[in-house]
Amino acid sequence: MQHDDRTRAPEPDKLIEGARINGRVYSDPAIFELEMARLFGHAWIVLGHESQIPTPGCYFLGRVGRVPVIVTRDDEGVIRVVENRCAHRGPAVCAKRTGKVRRFVCPYHAWTYELDGRLVSVPLREEYGDSFAWAERGLRALPRVTTYRGFIFASLAADGPELAEFLGEEVQAFDDFMDRAPDDALEAVEPPLRYRVRANWKTIFENLNDILHPMFAHASAMAAFAATEDKERLHPLMKLLAAAPGPQLMKTFKQLDARMTTWGHSFITGLVSLANKEYPRDAYFEALAARRGEGEARRILNTDMHVSLLYPSATINSRFQTLRLVRPLAHDLTEVQAHVYRLKGAPDDVYPLALEYNYTSGSPASPVIVDDLEIYERLQAEAGASMWMSAERGLGDLRPGTNETRHAPGTSEEYIRQQYEVWGRYLRDGAR
Ligand code: FES
Ligand SMILES: [Fe+2]
Repeated sequence: MQHDDRTRAPEPDKLIEGARINGRVYSDPAIFELEMARLFGHAWIVLGHESQIPTPGCYFLGRVGRVPVIVTRDDEGVIRVVENRCAHRGPAVCAKRTGKVRRFVCPYHAWTYELDGRLVSVPLREEYGDSFAWAERGLRALPRVTTYRGFIFASLAADGPELAEFLGEEVQAFDDFMDRAPDDALEAVEPPLRYRVRANWKTIFENLNDILHPMFAHASAMAAFAATEDKERLHPLMKLLAAAPGPQLMKTFKQLDARMTTWGHSFITGLVSLANKEYPRDAYFEALAARRGEGEARRILNTDMHVSLLYPSATINSRFQTLRLVRPLAHDLTEVQAHVYRLKGAPDDVYPLALEYNYTSGSPASPVIVDDLEIYERLQAEAGASMWMSAERGLGDLRPGTNETRHAPGTSEEYIRQQYEVWGRYLRDGAR
């Protein structure tokens, strides 16, 4: 990729010594450039769900690494992902985050593009001469675009693993998301929740499968939840946070299973169930059972994948219908955009649980995430060549897994070590 040529060669391998990682992985702009070219330039990046663009002409904006994109549905209903950069002088063609259009018209000199990116009209066309490469001046389509159960993925690389291989067991997060919709469809909720944090994107991925930190970093929020009189009315996740922290809880956390795939994705099973009994036979259960049978409804509603990490572009909470897109903007600036979806065919009281999950654990104004943001920014402030961070917790403590998926105790930092293994692979050669 051309970014490589402009970059002095930072040597990523020298930044990882076993389970210790040098602070330059967060603080060095040259490392960030290399990540954009080789990691975000090759991985499958999730952009959203097709329910966000229900009919032709609907679009939303996204990012694949450095590249701003328009995700749209053309007149035939085909999903297209094209660069949001005018083929004339390069500004963004679309500025509004979502919308519905017949064509894309650049605001600068009105070059006009079809929904699939083809250039269809140029004012004063004759002035561009006979050699004007009409067919080549469209909005560039990304080389690979695909969907899985309505979720839209794109890659800047023309070759690489197929999506199924890339996802591995992480596919369960998307299955769990969709299985919960009795009508097998979602409705996008607008607008998403968005915030920026002055920290490197990796700090987020290194935190969200860390189930030990809540009892320390979120102690004040936990105390507030614990002081709630009617705990049965708490959101299922907050009910867990309301449980008294202590050595017993740490032991229980250790018994949980953390799973990591070969491409750096991970999730923890069984966490939310710790404080919540078997799912009751309520109207939602009946709605799912009517479509899929009682056994399947029970299996779906008792599935417990807590915060799945889709490395390097998103975190997913399928149980509460949340997809959080993580967008690196600079080595020390990251944007998070959280989408909540309504499950089609589910009773009205299901959707508020997803919203509440977002407000209480995903909004920068929430009593929970504010602690994480503080930690990310403190970490970023200290990051540099003289800092080595340790990801040694649970080193060597693995459980029997498979070729594709490593298993570790819930409290292990193995998922961070796995992330850096994959990170090194990408940064060395684009993981080809
Ligand atoms: S820059 Fe877009 S039309 Fe000129
Ligand atoms: Fe946290």
